[in-house]
Amino acid sequence: MVRDSIDRIGVVGAGTMGSGIAQVAATNGYDVVMRDVEREFVENGFDRIDDSLERLANRDALPTDPGTIRERIEGTTDLDALGDADLVVEAVLENLEVKQEVFADLEAVCVEDVVLATNTSTLSITSIASDLEHPERVVGLHFMNPVPVMEGVEVVVGEKTSPEVTDLAHEVAESLEKTTWESDDKPGFVTNRILMPWINEGIRAYDEGVASKEDIDRGMELGTNVPMGPLTLADHIGLDVCLHASETLAEELGDRYQPAYLLKRKVEAGDLGKKTGQGFYEYDD
Ligand SMILES: NC(=O)c1ccc[n+]([C@@H]2O[C@H](COP(=O)([O-])OP(=O)(O)OC[C@H]3O[C@@H](n4cnc5c(N)ncnc54)[C@H](O)[C@@H]3O)[C@@H](O)[C@H]2O)c1
Repeated sequence: MVRDSIDRIGVVGAGTMGSGIAQVAATNGYDVVMRDVEREFVENGFDRIDDSLERLANRDALPTDPGTIRERIEGTTDLDALGDADLVVEAVLENLEVKQEVFADLEAVCVEDVVLATNTSTLSITSIASDLEHPERVVGLHFMNPVPVMEGVEVVVGEKTSPEVTDLAHEVAESLEKTTWESDDKPGFVTNRILMPWINEGIRAYDEGVASKEDIDRGMELGTNVPMGPLTLADHIGLDVCLHASETLAEELGDRYQPAYLLKRKVEAGDLGKKTGQGFYEYDD
């Protein structure tokens, strides 16, 4: 059973993805409640939203003024504030135990017909929902980074996810001006299952001296018509995120998913890509 009308969306986690999801939901007219564990993290989320709204407003890419959109988002550290949401999207860190705890908390505050979605990139929807009384209301809504810019959302169907919850997930994503595709709950879903080996192979090719990093990226961009080559894309995603995703996939799918040696070495050195100013390339801001 799902609600006929979704008016208020809860977001758990005000980090990179949670703040982006809150922003896009508010931009499309939803009331939003965005929850993190510390007030400081909520405020950081609002700072990211303000910056992004300002950039979009400067490009005339918003349906209304940033202030109106911003007012639709309530920031909180209070778990109970999620209790009046019609649908909740979880976007906390990529750790199964943490996500299971968050879903147990959500089950305690959200009544049975509230859909509980997870933005996980690599974890099993079925495992995240496994201890719940109502696993049929759990679905993957895998937004891409940066959420306000990327058009695609992957809807991931767990073993127990009900068809009406899956349909609602597509509808809600489409109401956020996104285009969806559907994946079964298999490791990495469609996107990361194919993307992570591609990135790791690009890194290995560089490490083995097949070509310069610029030529590897240029070759893939011009030769296969992708907007970014593997080394540039890895820097944008975050090398720690790529490493963690590759390790999770390798556990499930075997050795062909093992992370490239150079990826591990860069992460150990603290060079995590764009966010630290140094990855395969150097970044000024
Ligand atoms: N960053 C990406 O490129 C990307 C892309 C797609 C999906 N994802 C997935 O989205 C999720 C979030 O990733 P992110 O990059 O936004 O992480 P992040 O580290 O930027 O943000 C996570 C936030 O969750 C908060 N948090 C932790 N426990 C919490 C709890 N119990 N209740 C409320 N908030 C809590 C943290 O304080 C932090 O602010 C992960 O599952 C990740 O795999 C990330």
